[in-house]
Amino acid sequence: MKGLILSGGTGSRLRPITHTSAKQLVPVANKPVLFYAIEAMREAGIKEIGIVVGETKDEIIAAVGDGKSWGLEFTYIEQEAPLGLAHAVKVSKSFLKEDSFVMFLGDNLIKNGIVSLVEEFSRSKPNAQILLAKVKDPSMFGVAELDGKKVIRLVEKPKDPPSDLALVGVYMFDKSIWAAIENIKPSWRNELEITDAIQYLIENGSTVHPHIIEGWWKDTGKLEDMLEANRIILEIMEPRIDGEVDEASQIDGRVVIEKGAVVQNSHIRGPVIIGENAEIIDSFIGPFTSIYFDVSIRHSEVEHSIILEKSRIVGISRLEDSLIGKNVQVEKSPKKPQAYRLMLGDNSQVGVFK
Ligand code: G1P
Repeated sequence: MKGLILSGGTGSRLRPITHTSAKQLVPVANKPVLFYAIEAMREAGIKEIGIVVGETKDEIIAAVGDGKSWGLEFTYIEQEAPLGLAHAVKVSKSFLKEDSFVMFLGDNLIKNGIVSLVEEFSRSKPNAQILLAKVKDPSMFGVAELDGKKVIRLVEKPKDPPSDLALVGVYMFDKSIWAAIENIKPSWRNELEITDAIQYLIENGSTVHPHIIEGWWKDTGKLEDMLEANRIILEIMEPRIDGEVDEASQIDGRVVIEKGAVVQNSHIRGPVIIGENAEIIDSFIGPFTSIYFDVSIRHSEVEHSIILEKSRIVGISRLEDSLIGKNVQVEKSPKKPQAYRLMLGDNSQVGVFK
């Protein structure tokens, strides 16, 4: 069994972060979201993994490497344009050959990994196995209509969803997927949809097993989902303090402080993770916050947020529900007149309270 991780796409729903960074590399609890998919595959015993990359190729390769440090074998596959998930499979043909494979969307995160799912697929040998999860807003996803345990129809982003069961971004296929991909046409959004390829399997007598997953699943394509995934992972991480915390500081609850990080005269209320060489000085860090490496936070209060590497937050009385990119400076300015002075990238979002 091989693995295929899709790590292309433009990340339009996470702009401006994704103007300079691949969406699959945005960290959740200080780990790029894509790494969770790689670890899930490794845990399931999959050794050969194809990683489909697009315009953010160089950045993905730099972050993930050649697989040796993971004990895995990676093959990078270029998709020249984001023409759909089935197109990404199609361009991976020379890597996948006739083998069965698990496909994982690089911005998806599922709680219980894929060990039992891969076992189930290998044991019962359907032509395809899909994962489904109940969601509040099915029209944002591919949606399945079931009759008992049988999938009778799949529709991509339906206006009028036939159920609340969304297709999770983890799929298992045998070689019958190739004929399906050859026979489908691009959708209204001009993409070759994997949903349509699976619908073709259903209509042409192949077996498609649905598996409704327990526990959470997140597609981290949007800010709210990113913050929620961050919350979920922080809640289950093992606390550990490898950095330096001075006597004047207070640490409560589930907190990770990485080596080289410094906490002075501050209050950290977990779940919180503070990355390598970060400094938290005269500040309060509230629950569900991930602070990445080399960040500096002084005289500020931050809660329920993700702060990426090398950013500086100084003199900010309260920052919440925020995703701050790399090398960002947020500072209280002593200059007169008192005013907001901003340099924001395209598609930024700012919420001010007065
Ligand atoms: C894709 C699939 C959709 C699936 C979703 C899961 O959507 O097309 O069927 O439910 O991933 O994350 P997209 O991310 O392309 O909007």
